[in-house]
Amino acid sequence: MKVSEFMKRLKDWKRGDERLYLQQILNSTVGPAIVEDYMKFDWRYVAEKKNKHNWGELTSNLLFIGMEGNVTPCHYDEQENFFAQIYGYKRCILFSPDQFECLYPHPVHHPHDRQSMVDFDRPDYNKFPKFKSLNGCETVVEPGDVLYIPIYWWHHVESLMRGGSTITVNFWYKAGPTSLEYPLKQHQKVSIMRNVEKMLLEVLQDPKEVGPLLRAMVLGRYNE
Ligand code: FUM
Ligand code: FE
Repeated sequence: MKVSEFMKRLKDWKRGDERLYLQQILNSTVGPAIVEDYMKFDWRYVAEKKNKHNWGELTSNLLFIGMEGNVTPCHYDEQENFFAQIYGYKRCILFSPDQFECLYPHPVHHPHDRQSMVDFDRPDYNKFPKFKSLNGCETVVEPGDVLYIPIYWWHHVESLMRGGSTITVNFWYKAGPTSLEYPLKQHQKVSIMRNVEKMLLEVLQDPKEVGPLLRAMVLGRYNE
């Protein structure tokens, strides 16, 4: 959908209509005015950070235009992210990769891969007991803020209720080159787990067989 079309739908939106959230790659199709603004971004600032932390290349920018109260459920991405808040206010809660077990991610083959299975509004503690031990860092970003969301860090993002519409632009960078140093970092272990799941799926072919095989490997053998 064109940004202008989306803005019209946002203007005509009435209580009871489905919520709207535009999330689209920022490229020349979004219109010349936005592209012009984008060129004025402080590129020296991002280039300095990129070089200092040895990230790879900028892969894409994602434009988010949302309504107050919109929620992006807790998930992690496989790229470094500069989250630039342009308009309105968003509450962001970040969790480090070592809290993987408290967040119960969907299996890799699931359409909600990289997303937590826990409903943050109504957590089921019987099903997800470790969610109680979760510890995050919370902030509210406002126009002009740039939040760094490191690769594999979980993030739950919501546009503040009664805070008006929101606009964000994400700057996604490839991870820098990594060498294996021991002990492994937690995000490297997450990456290994993802690869094990993917390899099992490739050989077993049926997603339903992955869980039982993993359980057969572990249960009664790796229990302490
Ligand atoms: O809703 C959001 O602004 C989400 C951003 C992200 O996942 O990076
Ligand atoms: Fe994200």
